[in-house]
Amino acid sequence: MGLPTSELRAPSTAAAVAYAAAIAAGSTTAIVGSAATTTTAGALIGESDRLARLAHAAELGPLVAGRSGGAVSAVTDAASLVRLIPVLRDSVQRKQAVVVHVPVATAGDVSSVLAVRGAGCALLRSASAQQAVDFALVATLAARRLGVPFVHCFPASSGPVDVRAYSEPIAGHADVRAYLEAAAEDEPQLPAAERAHAAVAQAMALFDASYAPLAYAGVPDASLVYATFGAGPEPSPATGVLQISLLRPLDAQAVRAALPATAARVVALEQVARQPTPWGPLLFDLAGVLQPAADDAPAQATPPPIILDAVSTVPPPAFTAEQLARVTAHAATLNAPAHFNPAEVAGVPEAIAEAEDVSLAGLSLDEQRRRVEQIPYGQLLRDLFGPRLHVANAAESSSIWGDARRDQTVPEFGFGLLAAAERDRARLAQAVTAALRDVAVPLSAQLHAALSTWLGGRDNAAVATAELAAEIRELLAAERHAHPAVEAIHALQAHLARASSWLVGADEWAYDLGSSGVHHVLSSGLNVNMLVLDTAQYPFVAERKGAPRKKDVGLYAMNYGAAYVASVAVYASYTQVLEALLEADAFPGPAVVVAYLPHTDGVFSTSYSPIEVLQQSKRAVDSGAWPLYRWDPTLPADRRFQLDSEKLRRSVEDFLRRDNALAAIGAAAPDLRGVDAALETRMRGDVADLVGGLRGPPLLVLFASDGSNAEEAARRVARQGRRRGMDVRCLAMDEYEVDELPFEKTVVVSVSTAGQGEVPTNGREFVKALHAASVNLSETQFAVFGLGDSHYWPREEDAIFYNKPARDVDRRLAELSATRIVDAGLGDDQDADGWETGFADFEQRLWAALNIDVIGGAAAVDDEAPKRTDEENKVISNYLRGTIAQAIADSSCGYVDEWDGKLLKFHGTYMQDDRDLRPERLAKGEEKAFSFMIRVRLPGGIATPAQWLAMDRLADEYGNHTMKITTRQTFQLHGVLKRNLRETMRGINRALMDTIAACGDVNRNVVASANPLQAHLQPEVARLAADISAHLLPSTSAYHEIWLADELVAGSAEQTSAVEDHEPLYGATYLPRKFKVAIAIPPENDVDVVAYDLGYIAILGEAGQSILGYNVVIGGGMGMTHNNKKTYPRLATCLGYVPKDKAVIVAEKVMLVQRDHGDRTNRKHARLKYTVDDHGMDWWREQVEERLGFRLEPPRPYEFVRNGDRYGWVKTTPGLNNFTMFVQNGRLADLPGRPLKSALAEVARAHTGLFRLTCNGHLIVADVRDEDVPRMSALLAAHRLDNLDYSALRLHSMACVALPTCGLAMAESERYLPRLIDLLDALVDAAGLRNDAIVIRMTGCPNGCARPYNAEIALVGKAPGTYNLYLGGSHSGERLNKIFRESVDEDQILELLGPIIKQYALERNDGERFGDFVIRAGIVKATREGKDFHDV
Ligand SMILES: Cc1cc2nc3c(=O)[nH]c(=O)nc-3n(C[C@H](O)[C@H](O)[C@H](O)COP(=O)(O)O)c2cc1C
Ligand code: SF4
Repeated sequence: MGLPTSELRAPSTAAAVAYAAAIAAGSTTAIVGSAATTTTAGALIGESDRLARLAHAAELGPLVAGRSGGAVSAVTDAASLVRLIPVLRDSVQRKQAVVVHVPVATAGDVSSVLAVRGAGCALLRSASAQQAVDFALVATLAARRLGVPFVHCFPASSGPVDVRAYSEPIAGHADVRAYLEAAAEDEPQLPAAERAHAAVAQAMALFDASYAPLAYAGVPDASLVYATFGAGPEPSPATGVLQISLLRPLDAQAVRAALPATAARVVALEQVARQPTPWGPLLFDLAGVLQPAADDAPAQATPPPIILDAVSTVPPPAFTAEQLARVTAHAATLNAPAHFNPAEVAGVPEAIAEAEDVSLAGLSLDEQRRRVEQIPYGQLLRDLFGPRLHVANAAESSSIWGDARRDQTVPEFGFGLLAAAERDRARLAQAVTAALRDVAVPLSAQLHAALSTWLGGRDNAAVATAELAAEIRELLAAERHAHPAVEAIHALQAHLARASSWLVGADEWAYDLGSSGVHHVLSSGLNVNMLVLDTAQYPFVAERKGAPRKKDVGLYAMNYGAAYVASVAVYASYTQVLEALLEADAFPGPAVVVAYLPHTDGVFSTSYSPIEVLQQSKRAVDSGAWPLYRWDPTLPADRRFQLDSEKLRRSVEDFLRRDNALAAIGAAAPDLRGVDAALETRMRGDVADLVGGLRGPPLLVLFASDGSNAEEAARRVARQGRRRGMDVRCLAMDEYEVDELPFEKTVVVSVSTAGQGEVPTNGREFVKALHAASVNLSETQFAVFGLGDSHYWPREEDAIFYNKPARDVDRRLAELSATRIVDAGLGDDQDADGWETGFADFEQRLWAALNIDVIGGAAAVDDEAPKRTDEENKVISNYLRGTIAQAIADSSCGYVDEWDGKLLKFHGTYMQDDRDLRPERLAKGEEKAFSFMIRVRLPGGIATPAQWLAMDRLADEYGNHTMKITTRQTFQLHGVLKRNLRETMRGINRALMDTIAACGDVNRNVVASANPLQAHLQPEVARLAADISAHLLPSTSAYHEIWLADELVAGSAEQTSAVEDHEPLYGATYLPRKFKVAIAIPPENDVDVVAYDLGYIAILGEAGQSILGYNVVIGGGMGMTHNNKKTYPRLATCLGYVPKDKAVIVAEKVMLVQRDHGDRTNRKHARLKYTVDDHGMDWWREQVEERLGFRLEPPRPYEFVRNGDRYGWVKTTPGLNNFTMFVQNGRLADLPGRPLKSALAEVARAHTGLFRLTCNGHLIVADVRDEDVPRMSALLAAHRLDNLDYSALRLHSMACVALPTCGLAMAESERYLPRLIDLLDALVDAAGLRNDAIVIRMTGCPNGCARPYNAEIALVGKAPGTYNLYLGGSHSGERLNKIFRESVDEDQILELLGPIIKQYALERNDGERFGDFVIRAGIVKATREGKDFHDV
């Protein structure tokens, strides 16, 4: 198809702006030449704020634009293309059919064209005059079909190209119409690159069948292939040539298919005169498709070819025959990706790619200067801003590099120079204004006009150009003596041109923001740009221990408020770097660009493999460890933040969430109705700031808190400060740098005490740094509030640990010359209201001393919205819905908020985080490793083999590959990520189980005896467990709606009027606390029946063959709080006897009494056990009987003998057998050499009976038919599941989960008890007690999940490695134990228990149990009831 050509129109800047406008505004008006005025363009541009800024400030360069062939078409030169990146990106987002044609010299530099390849547009190159016209139309047609902008480079020698002239004639062509209308059904499913490749190939075929996006020429078995963008050299008999016409998107499959299978080396012949990066752009693109990142590379049959990079820096950057011969010879010697210049190799391999390490640390300043010049970003600045560039502290500035003083490398120094220049420029503007206004000043008409132009556009680099400056300077030289006002202008003429002012720094600045002066630059408001290079490795290497912590400069700057901020990575998105630098330059205030420069071993090195650099950058960006973004605070809130990569670091996300929320609220009237109550409370102060205008005196509140007390105290101070009009920031200590303290006016610290006098985790780095710091805080005033427990470590010599961090911080701040506002306040858990007692006094003193205890003439009153209570949370949750559905659908984070977290418990799941990973994550600024524990509701602990296998699969698929048999006879999965919660719940339900009410303030899983010796009675108690569980089940449909259905079942806004949830038993507030039920069959107490709120003790008929009814016991419960004597464990006491047919209704009535009379104001006093002690058993009996309408009978006799499990094979009902196996601490995992979980899955596959989970965390393979016993025995033996060769101590041991997942754990438990038992076994063996059962239990905190307080020996975690040791529970679980020693470590445990075990072995009476012995021997006093648990 022959196409006519016509003259290119003369380029014009106005047209360039108009073009930008046309594209930005999606205009359909043809804008050709300079037809549109800049005013019109400006108005159009107004629709895109980022473009407006850019068009105003940057020189867009010559460009002609118009609309033709159904697409916006433009022609510009290569140099100007870079400035169109934002326009192109905008077009990409709007899916606009735009084609920019760029003439390039055949043998010229195409680096400017390649620079835009990351903007998301397609990049096409034609190689001849004929292709120029054909590909111009190919680009136009493909752009329309794909909705993607194209950049089309064509040989400048082919003459001007005017698409309009020949697009019209082909527009009506049938093939063209068919092409444009073709929308192959499966086309959108293709990956973008494949789709584009196919669309371009088809468009090319319309013109010439020989055209192709990629074309290989040469012998079919070449081992060396040259790759070129556009025309390449002729192939030789030994080499092939891959000519790439469509470089972006580059279709990996097509590239691989085009290359001969024999290709061992591919040499990218780069056509770039100067390289801003050490490796050429073509190499990066080829590496991207031929060498996928290591972690996602599928195993390949043949290794991918080695990619080499040849750059000819001899102008023009083309390859002569002689150079190619060298390339060919040299490439053959290289076996790893490399980069070389054929002009330099001359056959000497050693000279290739001389490694240049660029590290600013530890080098002489001269050397630093030399190396900084090699950093890619430096080169980019030069390329973009040319003579306008003014780097005040780097290469060009001898003042900073010529002197050996280290302090001159800090931003403050260069900033001084830039600030002075800005000041001078302001003075120049004043002088010009004065001269123009004063008619007495004689100015030539020319100078007057030039100065007027300058004054109007002095901040616009496109106006205040070097040319205008030169013109004015020339005129001034002639007229300066005419008047002092002109002389004054002349004196400042150096500042006429608009400079692009930059400070370039490295990692050092990020370590020490305070003294590096970064914040000085930010707070100056001056138009100064900072480029901060970050060479740390992300995210692979944890920060070195003890190394100073790095601050996120970008986040810091965003928090500052009025600075432009961008985070870039040149090897991840070159184009985005260009955009950011352009935007930073155009921003009329301080700008910070943080730039990633991957390195290893602390240096950036050109000796790196480009693949390595590419992979490192990719991983850092893809993982979110180094997010790419741009932030312009002057734009409307919804456009302020532009995320250029996919993932964000948590800290940035948090910042944005806060900022968006603030903006959203601030924009509207401060009517907070409908705003989430927690947010409302948090935002109150901020809204006041936003609508109130002026900010008051600054107040910094820092906290360190492991629980939430110290944080809560801090937030209260912060809120009160805001109410007093202060400008408040409230941060965890470790989010703050000590070096910034000198700039703070008032600091309030709230710190609690962890471990033994230790600082809580989120304040450790800060306190360490505070002790090491040598800052002068004479300008800072401070007050410290500490939270501790004066009895946490009760020994006299441990008094030093009481509130130690607070006292240390208070002393240290004073040592650093800060002024103490008031004496430190100390909150003590022992006080009447706990820490709040001390806090009330501290707060009062603080505000009085600050003299701002009065607001608006009236005494300050606390009118804050009180924090939502658990009870309110239940009420407003709409029957347990809350915002769970939205929270689990939100994929931007792995957690849910506090209130949804509380509601989730009712659904059977707890949010947890891996506490082992906390410090590392905190240091990296990442969110905690959140996951969820899911607990199944499994009445009586009965599961079928199919259910077992379902749980096994879910644990592998979504959990942490382990399952736990809990102390309440059910399965628990750990490590389920939020995004998998729903699927896991569905999986459990598909297996005919559920998780409703497995946790939460409701009746939980009902447990029942699983002891095989009473197998004939078990079906009955199992049925009772199931009946009670079903009867007391919450009836909300929220569970099904959230986890199982796809839409709201009931209670949605639209449906509430039609169908409403209600809870006939619970009401909207459910129970004050959890409610647990157990059923035991004497003489076995394997369920620990008296440890729960409600227990049923079966009363057996004649010969124990049937159950007549139950003794009902109430008021058991384990949880307590260390050192809080108002909390204690309690064992249930007997209410009376009921016949078995009344058992279920009794459960309901007991629960209702607790529902109505349990303490709903204090969760620490809300369990039924306290209601029993508060009202007494007689009152309870009355209450229950009144509700029942009949009287309970007096209790009947029974006897328990033990509370452990019976191991091994037991014949149960005729023809059936049970095997009880020992599962250490209930954990089912595949450990090296002991694949317990897999083995049990195999058992499940072979088993025809049931599984019974026991309350001691063990497992019964139940109902094995006689004929199957040999087979099952063999199977169990094969996996050593039948191993019971343990000490009786171990067989009677039990530990709770504790670390790393339980958020309440103070010490290890499950992971530690087995090791401790190894050590105790030695003592037991020595005493000859290997086969004597002693019940030993351990928990990580006093909540008592593994029922420690009725064990014969119990260890309850107090701090890492430290436990309280209790002795004297009864072997049958019917007596509480007593504290024997507080705060003991492993050595002390062994030292204390050794002699007692020995004494027991020697002095015990016949059949006397350990727990009874320690009481008889006077080692501990017997505990008779819960209330005397703490009496020693
Ligand atoms: C594991 C642990 C160790 C503690 N050690 C001390 C201590 O050594 N000295 C002290 O005064 N208080 C100690 N306490 C008491 C806490 O500091 C106190 O309960 C505080 O209110 C907790 O605040 P937080 O919720 O902000 O972490 C300890 C508490 C726990 C849980
Ligand atoms: S006892 Fe404490 S540490 Fe152990 S699982 Fe329960 S709450 Fe966690």
